[in-house]
Formats: sequence, C-alpha cells, structure tokens
Amino acid sequence: MPDLFTPFDLGDLTLPNRIVMAPMTRNRAPDTVPTDLMAEYYRQRATAGLIISEGAAISPQAIGYPGVPGIYSEAQVAGWKRVTDAVHEAGGRIFIQLWHVGRISHPDLQPDGAPPLAPSAIRPAGEVVTFEGPKPFVTPRALDLAEIPQIVDQYRQAAVNAKQAGFDGVEIHAANGYLLDQFLRDGTNQRTDAYGGSVENRFRLLGEVVEAVKHVWPEHRIGVRLSPENRFNDIADANPQATFEEIVTRLSAITSGYLHVLEGDMTGQSEPAVDYACLRAAYHGPYMVNNGYDFARATDAIASGYADLVSFGRPFIANPDLVERFRRGAPLNEPDEATFYGGGAEGYTDYPFLE
Ligand code: PHB
Repeated sequence: MPDLFTPFDLGDLTLPNRIVMAPMTRNRAPDTVPTDLMAEYYRQRATAGLIISEGAAISPQAIGYPGVPGIYSEAQVAGWKRVTDAVHEAGGRIFIQLWHVGRISHPDLQPDGAPPLAPSAIRPAGEVVTFEGPKPFVTPRALDLAEIPQIVDQYRQAAVNAKQAGFDGVEIHAANGYLLDQFLRDGTNQRTDAYGGSVENRFRLLGEVVEAVKHVWPEHRIGVRLSPENRFNDIADANPQATFEEIVTRLSAITSGYLHVLEGDMTGQSEPAVDYACLRAAYHGPYMVNNGYDFARATDAIASGYADLVSFGRPFIANPDLVERFRRGAPLNEPDEATFYGGGAEGYTDYPFLE
C-alpha cells in the first residue's frame, strides 16, 4: 500500500514523496519582484515532494494585495529564476501558481486606480487590504466579451514566463473566490453571454485557460486548483455538488494534469456538504487534496487510494523539514499567525529544523 513516502510520477517528473507544499500568500515581495529572502524560504522547503509557489499575479490587474509577486515582467522572471535555482540546487521541484484575483482587489492596487475586473459587477462583502490599510471592497467592472481573449492570453504568457523562470510546471488557481472561481460559481457570475448561465458556459474561461497553457506546457506539468464550497472571499454556488461534478468531468476531458481540491470551507461558515469521493471519481488524472490534513488523515487518504498527493499549508510555514519530521514522527513547530503576511525573515525563514 502506498504511503506519504512512496514516490509518485507526474508524467516524467518523479516526486520523491506525496507531501506537497501548498500555495501560500506571504506578501514578502515589495514591488512585486521575488527576493533572495523568498529564494531562501523555498530552498529550505525543497524536501517537499513538490512545492507549489504562492500565487503569482499574471498581470498588473491580477494583483489584490500589497507585497504579492508577479510573473509578467522581466524583473519578476529574473527574481523567480533565483527562487527556482535555489530549490533545484537543494534537490527540489517547484510549480508556480498562476493567479488573477478578479474582483478581490481595489482601485488603490490597480493600474490607473481603475476598478477591479470580474465576470459581473457584484461587490464582495467585506474589506480588502490596501497599502493604506483595510478598505471596503468596491463594485468591480464586468469584463466585456471582447476582453476575455486578453485574459486568456495573459495566462498563456505567464506560463511562458514561468518556463523562462525555471519552474517545473504551473498550477492554475481556479479556487478561493478569485477570478476563475468567480466565473465558475453562480453567486458571482450573472453573465448572459457564452461565459455565464449554464455550467458549461461558466467553465468556458477555465477551459480556455487550460487549453492556452497546454500550448506552453505538457499536460502533466499543469495543475488546476478548485475549492467547490469554500466561502472565502464572499463566494458561493447554489448547487456546488452538481456544478463541480460537471466542472471536474469537463476538466478531466481536456487535461491529465493533477487536480488540487481544497475541501470544505476555510472560513468555517459552513459544514462540508459536497461528496468529494464523487469528484475524485469524476477525475482520471492525479488527485491532490488539501485543507486541514494531518499526518494520520493524509496517510489514510493515500493508503485508501482516495488521493495521490496531499498538500500541507500551515505545517510547511512552521516546519521547513516537514517531510523529515513526518518520517521520524517528530513534534511539529507551531506557526505564528502574526507573521503570516508581510514582514521579513521573522516567522518566514527562522523556523528551526530538527537537530
Ligand atoms: C490569503 O491571502 O489568505 C489567500 C490568498 C490566496 C488564496 C487563499 C488565501 O488562494
């Protein structure tokens, strides 16, 4: 029976274990350019079977928080190259997460102070963090039909840039209430054109993005992340089970890259209602699960064949040597939430390794 330490082949890329570092925003890229401190952070975690980077903005409009990195400029590509070199020198593998926040932004963070972009002009409840502190979300501008090919092309170009920056692959972020998820779920998509209404139409943008990225990377080097019932960023769907069964089925028809599913709700607003075994059954490729797994649950998920890979977030923040700690059954360091977002080395590269 496989366990967390059994190697796994993503096509021609062999992962030495099933313990994946989940993508996590850490807001330590002033001016959107990855730094040497970020290279050190990822290098420390290179024993993960696979590292998925924090979300990287695919365009200036894709940014929703201060201090997040991009993957659209030459300086950003050069910064990421230092990150991927560091991970590779340490024997690791790293995919970049391609991110567009859509409406989860603010004019203060947008070029020319423009409103953020979204499928429909629906304002999220809550507040966004700007350079001047929290401010209420604004009503986004609904993308014109004629603008959608530009968005798809930004994903394609970001995938090209990722290759130039030395990544091993890309993960398309279609979860957690950001742009692609805003198209998928009906609470945020009220379009009446080919990109709204039926699930087929709501899936269209993600499908086009996957197809565009397939022109750049082989399928097994492309992951997709979904979060069928996460309420984070004020998003919901009237029927997540049916919606996401169809989305996963459609995805399965166009790619054999890994599917990364964030199960349940990060906000604690709702109990899990989706039957994830059904989603798993609808996908023919590698399947990665996430959200609150510990060693025991992760081991069960792999041994039972339910999942091929498990990604860990908070444990990897506090334990650069998480794989070794799991192997030895060693205690884990506790993460310090106060240093999750922004700042420097403290709470970032100073968590202790085992002796
Ligand atoms: C966060 O900043 O908390 C965050 C960012 C991206 C995600 C999820 C959470 O996909």
